[in-house]
Amino acid sequence: MSCLIIVGGQWGDEGKGKVISYICSKDKPDVIARGGVGPNAGHTVNVKGKSYGIRMVPTGFPHKEAKLAIGAGVLVDPEVLLKEVEMLKEFNVKERLIVDYRAGIIEEKHKLMDRQDEHLSKEIGTTGSGCGPANVDRVLRILKQAKDIEELKEFLGDVSELLNDTLDNGGDVLIEGTQGTFLSLYYGTYPYVTSKDTTASSFAADVGIGPTKVDDVLVVFKSYPTRVGAGPFPTEMSEEEAERLGLVEYGTVTGRRRRVGYFDFEMAKKACRLNGATQIAITGLDKYDKSCYGVREYNKLTKKARDFIEKIEEVTKVPVTIISTGPGMNQTIDLRAEKL
Ligand code: GTP
Ligand code: IMP
Ligand code: MG
Repeated sequence: MSCLIIVGGQWGDEGKGKVISYICSKDKPDVIARGGVGPNAGHTVNVKGKSYGIRMVPTGFPHKEAKLAIGAGVLVDPEVLLKEVEMLKEFNVKERLIVDYRAGIIEEKHKLMDRQDEHLSKEIGTTGSGCGPANVDRVLRILKQAKDIEELKEFLGDVSELLNDTLDNGGDVLIEGTQGTFLSLYYGTYPYVTSKDTTASSFAADVGIGPTKVDDVLVVFKSYPTRVGAGPFPTEMSEEEAERLGLVEYGTVTGRRRRVGYFDFEMAKKACRLNGATQIAITGLDKYDKSCYGVREYNKLTKKARDFIEKIEEVTKVPVTIISTGPGMNQTIDLRAEKL
């Protein structure tokens, strides 16, 4: 692995949580570091039949030997973070967590502004987690940093130094990106985007490593993309069609119903370019073809499913190395050994 970045290739909620927890359990990186915007993200991790909705702690937490880092570029909501640390007690998160001392802090006023501002809450349809307003204050250079917060003292560290030391000593680092490529402030469907760039380059910067240190970028796509909040969605299907196909989903953070659409191959190609993808993971293949549910070998997939995977590779010119056939960690086809 050395240094792998995992990125969402659509509008978030691609199932990065599932893919990350699978890779962590299998490859056992020394450090799992979270980049991305902040607690606007919600990942679902299923461990031994139990489901965890996580917004701040790196989703690789089930791999108990790894250090869990939150990079300087990430916004931290201390209330959300401390609650998760408590909730994940059995995974010893408290003993393994390092929050970069320069991380920005979300305060109550940022959440209020996010929820009360008409433009943000109604027109853009933000998550209301305070990320946008906190990033505004950061740009104004008045935002508090993690080092200013008493309750975070025991977790403070220098994530950039930790990652660079780990890589220099031959260790493995997994960087988790949140959101998705087309929610990027630069490359997404502006103004219906989040408050920061959400491509692989930014995630490297978030955790303090240079581009030359990155070995692999894995872009995650779901077979039927979803989007929450307002904004263009060229391949969107009607709510009735989503119900008929059994594709109804609700957001982990806001509980809002997710809009659903058909896979957009050209968009996937763009996402691969914007992120410099070296690998692709496809999630929800069981939604694309129900008879693929839980399948763990490529040649046991139906022709319909294999054709879909092969078309993605043909259009993007990037190998599909991981295929998820259900929400469980082991409902996975891992083709990395043969394709890389
Ligand atoms: P973001 O950071 O918001 O992008 O989170 P995420 O990418 O981790 O996705 P999220 O957990 O918000 O939503 C994905 C949903 O799909 C979760 O409920 C997962 O349990 C589920 N899921 C992931 N992979 C699969 C799969 O292969 N099949 C099925 N049926 N569900 C899946
Ligand atoms: P904000 O990031 O809360 O400012 O929200 C801006 C837009 O990004 C809204 O459309 C949100 O629904 C969307 N968004 C932000 N984070 C995520 C995520 O993790 N998954 C899906 N959508 C997100
Ligand atoms: Mg999500």
